[in-house]
Amino acid sequence: MFRLGRRCWTIEDSVELSKKLKAEGVDLIDCSSGFNTPDYKNYPFGPDWQVPFAEKVRTQAQIATAAVGSIIEATQAEQIVQNQQADSVLLATQMLRDPY
Ligand SMILES: Cc1cc2nc3c(=O)[nH]c(=O)nc-3n(C[C@H](O)[C@H](O)[C@H](O)COP(=O)(O)O)c2cc1C
Repeated sequence: MFRLGRRCWTIEDSVELSKKLKAEGVDLIDCSSGFNTPDYKNYPFGPDWQVPFAEKVRTQAQIATAAVGSIIEATQAEQIVQNQQADSVLLATQMLRDPY
């Protein structure tokens, strides 16, 4: 959650923003939650923990999404797409660990 004035940015805000971005011609939303702010506490860190964000934006804003966050195995990535939780997956940390 990001602090915006007196309240925090929520997944519902992201859904509404994604609807507006879709109307403006955006094709895909990268659903990284920016969890490194002081207000974002007790997040369930682990494999797939941010996938529900991609799933919710995809379902509720009717726009293609990319899931991120501790996706380290090819089978894990494939499962997310097969389960229709996201349209694609993006890997960062694992690619830095093992670029080959
Ligand atoms: C080098 C590096 C820098 C990043 N910087 C930021 C950042 O400034 N803000 C942010 O919200 N996320 C940042 N991220 C997180 C990415 O946006 C993305 O959510 C995350 O890396 C995907 O998960 P994964 O690294 O487990 O694959 C960074 C990731 C990496 C690897």
